[in-house]
Amino acid sequence: MEVIATVAETRDRLDAVRVAGSVVGLVPTMGALHEGHLSLVRAARHECDVVAMSIFVNPLQFGAGEDLEAYPRDLDRDLVLARDEGVDVVFVPSVDEMYPSPPETSVVVPGLAATMEGASRPTHFAGVATVVAKLLNVAGPCRAYFGEKDYQQLVVVRRMTADLSFPVEVVGCPIVREADGLARSSRNVYLTPEERAAAPVLHRALQEGRAAIDAGERDAGAVAHRLRAVIATEPLAQVDYAEAVDPATLRPPERLRGEVRLLVAARFGRPRLLDNLAVLVPEQD
Ligand code: PAJ
Repeated sequence: MEVIATVAETRDRLDAVRVAGSVVGLVPTMGALHEGHLSLVRAARHECDVVAMSIFVNPLQFGAGEDLEAYPRDLDRDLVLARDEGVDVVFVPSVDEMYPSPPETSVVVPGLAATMEGASRPTHFAGVATVVAKLLNVAGPCRAYFGEKDYQQLVVVRRMTADLSFPVEVVGCPIVREADGLARSSRNVYLTPEERAAAPVLHRALQEGRAAIDAGERDAGAVAHRLRAVIATEPLAQVDYAEAVDPATLRPPERLRGEVRLLVAARFGRPRLLDNLAVLVPEQD
């Protein structure tokens, strides 16, 4: 496994892969790797010839007062996990390498970034879209793997790459969960034992939301209300948002039909945790 810290070397290395006729798979991460990240590597391994991972805690996507300084970092451990999973090239730039001067240019996807995560974190998706655009420009033509765990991010990235004609195929991968349903997240390490025990309420809420739809509920507001009500049964959870939306526009439809995405976010003490679920609305109404 090669560990590369510069844009120029990474670009050269991955250009050489393509000249040899091989397909590059890119897995962008902020490190603190867990099974969720490793599932993306496995998908990339399966579908591509050479797997590149980036590890970069991107300051642009953290707002003032968020956890940029405290964000978990353990590069040595990450490199062992990446190597054991068969990653070929790891791009580990410094902040100076990625942003030699504060960037003037920003990539924004305002409509898709306005709601949910974007409403709580107004500059977040501009930071994500800008760094993903840079990472894709460094990696070059590739298949790029993102988790459905951050569903709104996946939709924003898909739209950005389509709108700007990036020579990239964005691949979405399913959420990896703990045995009790909690979605794996780098931020789960912040949870106290009590908060950890409370956190699976997010997954339970989503399942209850799906059950309501299966039982005939077709009003997005009513499903959202149900999601909130389940989360509110857990005193350690402070719900941030709960929505039933069209999976492409991220807006609540007039009436639920076809594919629907349920998304929730809640704070458990220090961390804010996210979860979501795809629901196919039964046809017979
Ligand atoms: P990070 O939070 O490190 O996540 C990297 C990738 O792993 C994302 O695509 C995320 O959706 C995916 N992932 C995280 N937990 C997952 C889980 N439980 N199951 C499946 N996939 C999971 O997301 C980011 O970093 C950054 O915003 C980034 C895209 C790297 C830009 O800085």
